Amino acid sequence: MKIAVFPGDGIGPEVTREAVRVLQALDLPELTLFEGDVGAIAYRRHGRPLPDETLEMARAADAVLFGAVGDPSCDGLERHLRPEQAILGLRADLGLFANLRPATTFAGLEGMSALRPEIAAAIDLLIVRELNGDVYFGDKGTRRLDDGQRQGWDMMAYAEDEVRRIAHLAFRAAQGRKGQLVSVDKANVLETSQLWRDVVGEVAADYPDVALEHMYVDNAAMQLVRDPGRFDVIVTGNLFGDILSDQASMCVGSIGLLASASLGQRETAFGTFGLYEPIHGSAPDIAGQGRANPMATILSAAMMLRHSFGREDDAARIESAVARALADGVRGGDLGGDAGTGAIGDAVLERL
Ligand code: NAI
Ligand code: MG
Repeated sequence: MKIAVFPGDGIGPEVTREAVRVLQALDLPELTLFEGDVGAIAYRRHGRPLPDETLEMARAADAVLFGAVGDPSCDGLERHLRPEQAILGLRADLGLFANLRPATTFAGLEGMSALRPEIAAAIDLLIVRELNGDVYFGDKGTRRLDDGQRQGWDMMAYAEDEVRRIAHLAFRAAQGRKGQLVSVDKANVLETSQLWRDVVGEVAADYPDVALEHMYVDNAAMQLVRDPGRFDVIVTGNLFGDILSDQASMCVGSIGLLASASLGQRETAFGTFGLYEPIHGSAPDIAGQGRANPMATILSAAMMLRHSFGREDDAARIESAVARALADGVRGGDLGGDAGTGAIGDAVLERL
């Protein structure tokens, strides 16, 4: 089991350290960890946010554990030298086309949600966001119109194969959960969305045990706040998924608790290759103070064991240890408590 660990910047190294301690405590067979530089630290050491050595390390690994990148000192740099390019470059190079973001309200934390506690308590959903297509990767530019003003444009495009592969992944995810899939689009206005809807509908024939519903994105945004408990798995394109997944995470409460997986098509000896990271960034405002909540990164390591190593039992053990620590009142600063990064790691380890 080869895991590449890329701690990155700010609180990245602080939170990945705790996740690595948890992985090491599990006695995984032939666990080998490699550490590589990404982000501002890589720029300072190698002149680039994603050095070749790091990329090679990721390609040779069975999975990647990623902390966070971003540093205010890099704000003036050209775009291709900025730390954030490291994560974009890894997603593109490794063909990570599916971003999975579970959002579940932990017992005892209903009050942290922006929603009413009884509504928040019902949240147990998974957003599957397409990550390699859509307006982010279509032709784009700025042109001069006849009247002299500038016009910016970004092309939204999806090929059938791109929709099909993310749809299959989402249907399989729904099979492993409550068997309900909502496909989110804007088919009443967009050609891309009509094709998306057609293809998802075709793929549904392979999964008679999953109930498929199509929903317009504006309605989905509303339902996520009105009645998030109605959702099991949501599948959607890159742009809509970007927005809805941030919205869903804040319905749960804290940014320090939410994990993510980015998966591609590469199969290893153990499972599907993937990159795992907390959804938060490098939090420069609290970096170096030992105040970051490492739970999101620890839960990302659990997702790694599930998806890249087929170790559902170990994944569930970690998730249960985190849930019990929270139920016992262990709270980081993001949850209004004062438990430090190491103390939260200890609390999870004790409960493993
Ligand atoms: P952020 O997520 O780093 O921080 C937002 C707020 O949440 C801050 O007040 C921070 O202290 C708090 N916070 C975040 N994670 C926390 C944790 N684990 N425990 C306790 N509190 C936590 O977002 P922000 O401030 O917008 O971005 C900071 C830098 O991170 C930027 O350079 C940005 O580009 C980068 N970033 C990187 C990402 C990645 O590596 N995938 C994702 C998002 C942002
Ligand atoms: Mg986002």
